Amino acid sequence: MFIDRLVLTNFRNFRTLDLSLTEGPTIFVGDNAQGKSNLLEAICTLSTSRSPWATRDIEMVSWDTFGDDIPITRIKGEVKRDHKNVALEVIISGQSSGITTSQAVEPATNSIAMRKHLRVNSVPKRASDFIGQEAAVVFGPRETELVSDTPSMRRRFIDVALSQIDHRYTRALQKYNKVLVQRNSLLRRIQEGMSSPDELEFWDSSLVSSGAEVLAERLSAMERVSAIAAEVHHALTGGTEHLSACYQSNILGKETASGIGLRPDEISDFFMNGLIKAKSRDIRQGQTTVGPHRDDILVLIDGRPADLYASRGQQRTAALALKLAEARFMEERLGEQPVLLLDDVFSELDSHRRGYLMEVARGHQQVLVTTTDLDRLGESAIYLAAKYMVKNDAVSRI
Ligand SMILES: Nc1ncnc2c1ncn2[C@@H]1O[C@H](COP(=O)(O)OP(=O)(O)OP(=O)(O)O)[C@@H](O)[C@H]1O
Ligand SMILES: [Mg+2]
Repeated sequence: MFIDRLVLTNFRNFRTLDLSLTEGPTIFVGDNAQGKSNLLEAICTLSTSRSPWATRDIEMVSWDTFGDDIPITRIKGEVKRDHKNVALEVIISGQSSGITTSQAVEPATNSIAMRKHLRVNSVPKRASDFIGQEAAVVFGPRETELVSDTPSMRRRFIDVALSQIDHRYTRALQKYNKVLVQRNSLLRRIQEGMSSPDELEFWDSSLVSSGAEVLAERLSAMERVSAIAAEVHHALTGGTEHLSACYQSNILGKETASGIGLRPDEISDFFMNGLIKAKSRDIRQGQTTVGPHRDDILVLIDGRPADLYASRGQQRTAALALKLAEARFMEERLGEQPVLLLDDVFSELDSHRRGYLMEVARGHQQVLVTTTDLDRLGESAIYLAAKYMVKNDAVSRI
C-alpha cells in the first residue's frame, strides 16, 4: 500500500499543507525544527488514530489555533491499497474560548476538552474500525525507548502491530481495558467495605474472555516477530550479536512461558487461576495485579537484558530490528507492505547498518525518510528517491 496524498490543517506547525506522494522512496530534507517529523507523525496517526509520540491529542493541535473559538485540526490521507483505495480523516477539535496562545502551551491546556472524529471514505467510524485502514511502521530516535524504557512501551509495540492487522484484536483489547477499569473500581469498593467479593465473579469471567484472546494473539505474534527480529539483527550486526525477544506472561507457568501449543481454553484456565490466587492481594492493593496488562517482552542481546546492559547504539539496533520485524510480520499477515517511516535514523547508524537499512528500504513499496543532510544517505538513495525540502512549514519538491 502507499499513501498518495496528505492534507493537513492546523496540524502542529503546518497551518495548511496539501502534499502528493508516490510509491518508492521519498526523502524529506530540512534543517532542524522545520516539520519533518511532524509529517511522519501525521501519517502514523492515520494508521492508528493516535500519535506514536504525543501523550495527548491536543499536542498535535497547532498552537496558532488556540485563539480560535473552536480550534480544529485535520489530518487527511488518501491511501492506495492492493484491492481498494481509502480516504482517511482524523479530526481533532475543541473549545478554547478565553485561552490565549501563551496560556495554551501551559499545562493548563489539559483542561480543554478535545474531541476526536474518525472517518473512512467520509463515513464516521469507531476507532476499532478505523485503525489499520492504513498500516504504517515508524522508526525514529524515540523508538529506542522500545528497548530501554518500561514494559508499557513494549506492550504498546505489539498492540500497535496487531491492531493494524486485525480489527478483532483492537476490539478485544478495548473490551479488556474497559473491564479492567471496572474490576479495579470494584476492588476499591470491596476494600472500603462497600461491595462484596462475590461481585468479582462476573468481572473475572469477562476479563478472562477478552484477556485470553489478547494474550493468545500476542503470544503467537511475538513468536513470529521474535524470529524475524533475530534474523534482521543478525544481518544488521554482521552476525556478531544475537537478539532474542520473548513475550513474558505473568499468568502462564514457567514451563508454558512461551505459550506455544496452548489452546485458548487452556490460556483462559491459567488466567482464571491467576485471578483466584491473586484475589486477596488485588483487594488489598485495589487493583488487578495479574493479566496481560502487566506483561512484558524480554529483549536479550547475547543472553543479557538489553535495557540493563546494552549500549545506546546496541539498544537502537535492537529496536530497529524489532521495528523492521514488525513491518515484515504485518506484511505476512496483510499480504501487502505497510508504509515504512524512517525518521532521522541514517545519521545515527554506522555504515554497515546504514547499508542494510537502505537495502530494506529499497525493497519497500513506499518508504518516507527524513534527514537534515542528504549527504548522509549515500548517492544511490538520493538518486532514486523523490526529494522534498521542508522549510518553515512548507514542503516543496527539489
Ligand atoms: N502543536 C504545535 N503547534 C505548532 N507548532 C508545533 C506544535 N508542536 C510542535 N511544533 C513545532 O513544530 C516544529 C517542527 O517540529 P519537528 O519535530 O517536525 O521538526 P523536524 O523538522 O523533525 O526537526 P529535527 O530535525 O530537529 O528533528 C518545531 O519547532 C516544534 O516546536
Ligand atoms: Mg525530527
